Amino acid sequence: MRAIAVSEYGATPAPVNLPRPEPGPGEILVKMIAAGVNPLDWKIADGMLKDSLDVPFPLILGQDGAGVVDEVGEGVTRLRHGEQVYGAFLQAERGLGSYAEYAIARDDGPVAKMPEGMIYTQAAAVPTACTTALAMVEEARVDTGQTVLVVGATGGVGQGLVQLAARAGAKVLATARADMAGTMRRLGADETVDHSKGDLNRQVLAVHSDGIDAVLDVVSDTPAAEHLAQLLRPGGTYVSTTWSVNPDAMEARQLRGVNYDGEPSAALLDRLSDLIDAGELRVRVEREVPFAEAADALAGNRAGGARGKTVIRI
Ligand SMILES: NC(=O)c1ccc[n+]([C@@H]2O[C@H](COP(=O)([O-])OP(=O)(O)OC[C@H]3O[C@@H](n4cnc5c(N)ncnc54)[C@H](OP(=O)(O)O)[C@@H]3O)[C@@H](O)[C@H]2O)c1
Repeated sequence: MRAIAVSEYGATPAPVNLPRPEPGPGEILVKMIAAGVNPLDWKIADGMLKDSLDVPFPLILGQDGAGVVDEVGEGVTRLRHGEQVYGAFLQAERGLGSYAEYAIARDDGPVAKMPEGMIYTQAAAVPTACTTALAMVEEARVDTGQTVLVVGATGGVGQGLVQLAARAGAKVLATARADMAGTMRRLGADETVDHSKGDLNRQVLAVHSDGIDAVLDVVSDTPAAEHLAQLLRPGGTYVSTTWSVNPDAMEARQLRGVNYDGEPSAALLDRLSDLIDAGELRVRVEREVPFAEAADALAGNRAGGARGKTVIRI
């Protein structure tokens, strides 16, 4: 089967031909139709798992994908042959990922029936970004009447955060350069602040002089997060996907700091499917590329400036 893989950490992702994986007991084989691109993919190619996992090479890249169940292993009871599924397919310890014609998932793993109204290229954009957004909003206990700042709002996770925080009843402030301010408002942001136009704290405090209740942040490093945390009122919460908060230091200031490290799960995916089918969550696919351009798509994601999700057609 065709796949996009790296031959070693730090190598350029390239097309390869590899044997089709066989589903073991409790596993399904999925014929992939589309794969979603995440920063995680190039971070893994760069060696993010080097010290924590023994990984075989070539290592197929990609976590997110959508496709059709092609074979089911012994003992599979939840998912059926022919079912349209989406989810997280990375199994780095076996060298397997979603940028391939076939991928493996566990029947009890992070895979679920696709949302009814979605095509494969949309569904492949959902798993990592939207399960993260859903879990972060819950981790922050976002509630009606709160004011929440989303930092990195224009990217994959951020667009989900804006919608889900607004749905939870919060007043949402979203970071956005000028070209994305309208999109952020259409997704549910009440206000936007432009991170390319100077200090965010100054911009937020100009409108919310008594501070805000939560920061949901997918971009800041530790110094930037410490600065932004000054916006929080006592009792406020800061959730970071980039592991930039010091929970003990936050607690000493009567704040809650959470470094989010969640995993997609079938339960979260089922909840996302319900939200998507109810029209309460949208996913913006910014760029769709053919398989031959997968390495470019990954390089584009690494370069930054995401305005939604990038998807590879397998
Ligand atoms: N820990 C976890 O479990 C977990 C899960 C999911 C994702 N993540 C991580 O979370 C991060 C974001 O993921 P993603 O998929 O949302 O990335 P993405 O799609 O690439 O989006 C990043 C967005 O951040 C914006 N941005 C960059 N610098 C900014 C700044 N200083 N202030 C405000 N916005 C800024 C970018 O827009 P501009 O170019 O216009 O600035 C872009 O729209 C990645 O590092 C990813 O690895 C972690």
